[in-house]
Amino acid sequence: MKIIVIGGTGLIGSKVVTKLRNSGFEAVAASRTSGVDTLTGRGLADVLAKASVVIDLSNPMSRCRSWAQIAFRKAATCARSSRRRS
Ligand SMILES: NC(=O)c1ccc[n+]([C@@H]2O[C@H](COP(=O)([O-])OP(=O)(O)OC[C@H]3O[C@@H](n4cnc5c(N)ncnc54)[C@H](OP(=O)(O)O)[C@@H]3O)[C@@H](O)[C@H]2O)c1
Repeated sequence: MKIIVIGGTGLIGSKVVTKLRNSGFEAVAASRTSGVDTLTGRGLADVLAKASVVIDLSNPMSRCRSWAQIAFRKAATCARSSRRRS
């Protein structure tokens, strides 16, 4: 099972990635430094293409109440379009 951890390079995310890997899961850390931006959608389609589970531990705009809605709308759109392509 491939698990994508958005924000997987951060304080909390990196611990989650380590725990998942130690438990035998294939955990992939995704963040802007690895080319994935949940706000712009950059890199999301590729990283979500074969994901079974996505955990969002990013901290992109903590003062914006709607950031999660924006991010997940983009993520869902990317996932749908990548499934259509495969
Ligand atoms: N730390 C705590 O004690 C604590 C407590 C309760 C709740 N939380 C919550 O847990 C979450 C993570 O906190 P944290 O302390 O681990 O934060 P953090 O150390 O600042 O890490 C944030 C992570 O999100 C990534 N990120 C930021 N903007 C992004 C974007 N637009 N697209 C993709 N990735 C993005 C960062 O990597 P890049 O900069 O490379 O993109 C980094 O990997 C937050 O929602 C926070 O509110 C934290």
